[in-house]
Amino acid sequence: MNTKILSTDEYDIALAGEIIRNGGLVAFPTETVYGLGANALDDHAVKKIYAAKGRPSDNPLIVHISKKEDIVPLVKEITPKAQALIDAFFPSPLTIILPKSGIIGNTVSGGLDTVAVRMPENEIARKLIQAAGCPIAAPSANTSGLPSPTKAKYVIDDMNGRIDAVIDGGDCKFGVESTVITLVPDTPVILRPGAVTQEMIEAVIGRVSIDKAVLEGMKNDETAASPGMKYKHYSPKTKVVIVNADKGEYENFVNARKNAAALCYEGDNVTIKKVTYGREEDALSQARELFDALRRLDEIGVGKVYARIPQTNGVGMAVYNRLIRAAAFNVIDLKKPFTIGLTGQTGAGKGFVCRYFRELGFTVIDSDAVVKYIYAQNAELLRRLCDEFGQDIIEKGVLDRKRLAEIVFNDSVKLKKLNSIVHPAVMEECKKRAHGLCVLDAPQLFEAGAQRDCYKIISVTAPTGLRMQRIIERDGITADMAMSRINAQLSEEFYTDHSDFVIKNDGSDIKIQIDRILEEIL
Ligand code: TXA
Ligand code: MG
Repeated sequence: MNTKILSTDEYDIALAGEIIRNGGLVAFPTETVYGLGANALDDHAVKKIYAAKGRPSDNPLIVHISKKEDIVPLVKEITPKAQALIDAFFPSPLTIILPKSGIIGNTVSGGLDTVAVRMPENEIARKLIQAAGCPIAAPSANTSGLPSPTKAKYVIDDMNGRIDAVIDGGDCKFGVESTVITLVPDTPVILRPGAVTQEMIEAVIGRVSIDKAVLEGMKNDETAASPGMKYKHYSPKTKVVIVNADKGEYENFVNARKNAAALCYEGDNVTIKKVTYGREEDALSQARELFDALRRLDEIGVGKVYARIPQTNGVGMAVYNRLIRAAAFNVIDLKKPFTIGLTGQTGAGKGFVCRYFRELGFTVIDSDAVVKYIYAQNAELLRRLCDEFGQDIIEKGVLDRKRLAEIVFNDSVKLKKLNSIVHPAVMEECKKRAHGLCVLDAPQLFEAGAQRDCYKIISVTAPTGLRMQRIIERDGITADMAMSRINAQLSEEFYTDHSDFVIKNDGSDIKIQIDRILEEIL
């Protein structure tokens, strides 16, 4: 098939309308993204859309109309909330879902008993619908899974030879697809955020909720309110990872990664290869440029790109929703105080792991050293410990840690009390020392609740025999004492279950294990 490139003059629009009326496929501009249109009432034509895009057949299409009243025959009933939204927002980038009428076939609705309808603001789109003389079913005009096209050339990249024609109407005004809202439940639900925001909709019809999948994605066993949300989306070939960090921290992070690229804002001080998507604090500019930026990334030929995180409010929610899917939900969270929480069983060999992290340029915060520091420096803490455990724990003005350990050993109530006094003070000091990429080395990480402040948790484990041997050599104690220390610890299973990664110190190469983990998380 030879795909015609049409202009926006009347003659070409009439021709495009005729192609659609006769059961063909025409891609056309809208204010959001380019759509791939067919006669919504012609089942055979609609099937061709799914084939051209490689779209799963259970993912329904939006039906586009050119006049408000044209929604009436498509739905069972126009509810008062639907009428209010139509009056307030048609035409604009808002799609509403209602129970469908008998003229909507199962192919358009992906087998659902509802239909999604929208009246685009773009005049060329509306003229085309009028010229066709029928409602037009149109998904975004990209190959399924790729970023939606915001320029005619991207439609050609994906669809050349698969569709009858594309109308070149220049760049799309908004750049992300329409807001999709279902009016079927009593409290309407936004299934996909867009340029018509939650705030704008609530000003007209009162409270609406946001589907959980919008910001968080879906677990494998959940059913999607909007089938489109369960599929891989907007993904360039380059692997995208979002970095949750402030501007300066983001710049430091990406500038140290020479083999990757950055997807950042205009004006960011980035020295590696970069593609920008709009300006900070201007979500409309980010929306307009995001898909274009994702497509251009593949042209610069790097394996990985680190993207600056968008805001999640207003139009930013639409930007975040698309980018987080392009990134397959991979987010490096540098806003947590500690990049890595490192813990594990006593004698498992955490020290070696820490030394390697230091070699790699990480700041390593040694929580044991911090405990010693605050025992020496924090008079208020010592006073509280004396109140609780008696003056005997102080010897010549200095805390006798051995004495304190004896008091709490084998007394779980006292141990708990001690931890409740010491852990918060230790964590406060550790956080003061945290900056950039850092590792919190904490044998008592879980006991102190510090896992919440770490982006990823790594545990180090080793076979019991090996640990015994190490503890006896390191601390010069008997086998019995070593064993009772080991028994007082959390089980290997606990560490495994509560960690993102486990380093097994059983003779296999630890550096290789760490390199692999860092490859995965950064
Ligand atoms: O801005 C837009 O909406 C663009 C332009 C071309 O109008 N169209 C577009 O269509 O983005 P598409 O097919 O790429 O995305 C439509 C989304 C899909 O996630 C689909 O699952 C959802 O809307 N959808 C459509 N009908 C639905 C229904 N009856 N119930 C729930 N979700 C529906
Ligand atoms: Mg789409």
